[in-house]
Amino acid sequence: MQGTRVLVTGGAGFIGSHLVEQLGARNEVAVLDDLSAGSLRNLETVPRDVHVKKASILNRKALSTAMEGRDIVYHLAAKTSVPDSVAHPEAYWRTNVQGTLAVLKAVVDAKVRRVVFASSAAVYGNSETNPKVETMRPAPASPYATSKMVGEFACEEIASLKGLETVVVRIFNAYGPRQDPTSPYASVISKFCAAMAADEGIEIYGDGGQTRDFLYVGDLTAALELAGERPVAGQLINLGSGSATSVNEVARLLSEIAGVPIRTKHGEPRPGDVRDSRADITRASAKLGFTPRTSLRDGLGRTLAWYRTQRR
Ligand SMILES: NC(=O)c1ccc[n+]([C@@H]2O[C@H](COP(=O)([O-])OP(=O)(O)OC[C@H]3O[C@@H](n4cnc5c(N)ncnc54)[C@H](O)[C@@H]3O)[C@@H](O)[C@H]2O)c1
Repeated sequence: MQGTRVLVTGGAGFIGSHLVEQLGARNEVAVLDDLSAGSLRNLETVPRDVHVKKASILNRKALSTAMEGRDIVYHLAAKTSVPDSVAHPEAYWRTNVQGTLAVLKAVVDAKVRRVVFASSAAVYGNSETNPKVETMRPAPASPYATSKMVGEFACEEIASLKGLETVVVRIFNAYGPRQDPTSPYASVISKFCAAMAADEGIEIYGDGGQTRDFLYVGDLTAALELAGERPVAGQLINLGSGSATSVNEVARLLSEIAGVPIRTKHGEPRPGDVRDSRADITRASAKLGFTPRTSLRDGLGRTLAWYRTQRR
């Protein structure tokens, strides 16, 4: 992608900041983020002329100003925790449903050509079928998953009513530098890396045999760029690595990379956690030409190295 005017909502967050970094040098990129979870520190390494507006997607005026003259909007701003959504469903409805509807309306009003919506593997719910294929019936099992599902339907609706190009990506477990390890709901790799960088032990929920599809953030942003430029309007596309890795295996690899044994403690399994999750990425490969390039070992090595720099 080159010379495109892009807006990234949630651009100061983990994935958003990497996307801004990836697109920033060759395109005119702006960010809209209320910094409720993201941080300007995440954008320290992006080109200086990226314009950052601190505002909520629920602020219609800020939203319509941010949309002016944009070709593509990546809509990543969201509240992102499954357990937190169970505790505070209204907040998820407000930001992820009303917020997404507001973004789509502003996109139409500003005559933006395409919106890429960050949905989640969570919409597959507790289904035991693997790999997850886009044609499976979604079965959201949390307010977070439901909010993403509504966002997907809203994209479908607006595409058919208003002729807007929408691309929905269902992201599996992204990991990499800048992922926040501090929240009680932080992802497993960020928590493990932060604990190892601090020379602390790690806690594994349950027996650690549960598997996830981990995708390095650099591979994810490459796929997001393709979703912005390829002829995939109206498509729904899984973005994962296509491989399943257990939590125990992540801990073992990290220990090998660090060259030290890790102290592990096994806690209670987390209620509602799915046992196994793996993406079928046939469609991403066929429609986007996407191939994940970073091995889990390399991705974990880079991620651990980054968490170590944060300790200095
Ligand atoms: N990280 C993953 O593995 C993963 C998996 C599936 C889907 N996703 C989706 O990808 C997107 C990005 O996730 P992330 O991991 O980078 O999370 P993140 O929390 O780091 O980023 C979300 C960003 O949205 C911003 N935000 C929240 N509410 C806002 C509002 N009302 N107005 C403006 N900005 C707001 C936050 O400040 C933050 O910077 C989210 O939509 C998330 O649901 C992520």
